[in-house]
Amino acid sequence: MLKKIAVIGAGNVGATTAQRLAEAELAKTIALIDVVDGVPQGKALDMLEAGPVYGYDSQILGSNTYEIAQDAEIVVITAGMPRKPGMSRDDLLDVNRKIMTDVCQNIKKVAPNSLIIVVSNPLDAMCHVALEVTGFPSNRVIGMAGVLDTARFRTFIAEAADVSVEQVNAFVLGGHGDTMVPLVRYTTIAGIPITDLLPADKIAAMVQRARDGGAEIVKYLKTGSAFYAPSASVVEMIESIVKDKKKILPCAAYLTGQYGVNNLYVGVPVKLGANGVEQILEIKLTAEEREQLQISVDDVAANVANLKKAMAAV
Ligand code: LAC
Repeated sequence: MLKKIAVIGAGNVGATTAQRLAEAELAKTIALIDVVDGVPQGKALDMLEAGPVYGYDSQILGSNTYEIAQDAEIVVITAGMPRKPGMSRDDLLDVNRKIMTDVCQNIKKVAPNSLIIVVSNPLDAMCHVALEVTGFPSNRVIGMAGVLDTARFRTFIAEAADVSVEQVNAFVLGGHGDTMVPLVRYTTIAGIPITDLLPADKIAAMVQRARDGGAEIVKYLKTGSAFYAPSASVVEMIESIVKDKKKILPCAAYLTGQYGVNNLYVGVPVKLGANGVEQILEIKLTAEEREQLQISVDDVAANVANLKKAMAAV
């Protein structure tokens, strides 16, 4: 168990993440921070009072300021605006860049040795803000997206094949956007390639549904975006780090030449352990997969170029 994990943003994603962290007892103290007066305090107290029933001894604190995050070992950043129906994640670039900058300046002060998990959108670009503003090494600034996108893809596959979700292993590469690349060739059910078990048109439809998975939820909720699957995904990453499990998980990681990509956050398989990103795994891609990945990389690069322009103008 860690001493402290801080969660920035007490909206649905942040609060549900804090709840899952407490229920899994991954840290003695969970610090929930949000700008809205009363919300982190109220949600933290409510969660604390669930402890006796659920059987956890984590202490959950809520505040509008960062003192409670002092010396946190892991910081999860969920702060920012969610999408509204019809919006793409990229439409949030400008508003969330400012929020992210402020959050990261504070984290740098109170938790200079922490490891950051970025959840705010547009995910890959927000990782760049965190990296630049904190100046942390890139093994300690990681984006959550691939676990979520993969979980969605696995859900649809399990449903279509009528098998346990536990036996579906999937793989999604690229940015957390409309051009992400679910890798069918590496997707299996109990080790059997899904191409042997499901027809091609069904698989293609599931690939598209995974790409649109976030928007599908936004369309239902109307006033916000998904939070149960995103928070579960964050906690799987944190568990691998806290317990030094060294799970290979798809995460947004800073590439320095891997996959032919330089100085850019892109979703790739990484080994997550006590030191954060301990290895970036480079797998061989077919020409078609490489082409698809390049489209996604180009999308992320365009977003990051816009971001850098805006950051330079400040
Ligand atoms: C989603 C948001 C969190 O994919 O990006 O649901």
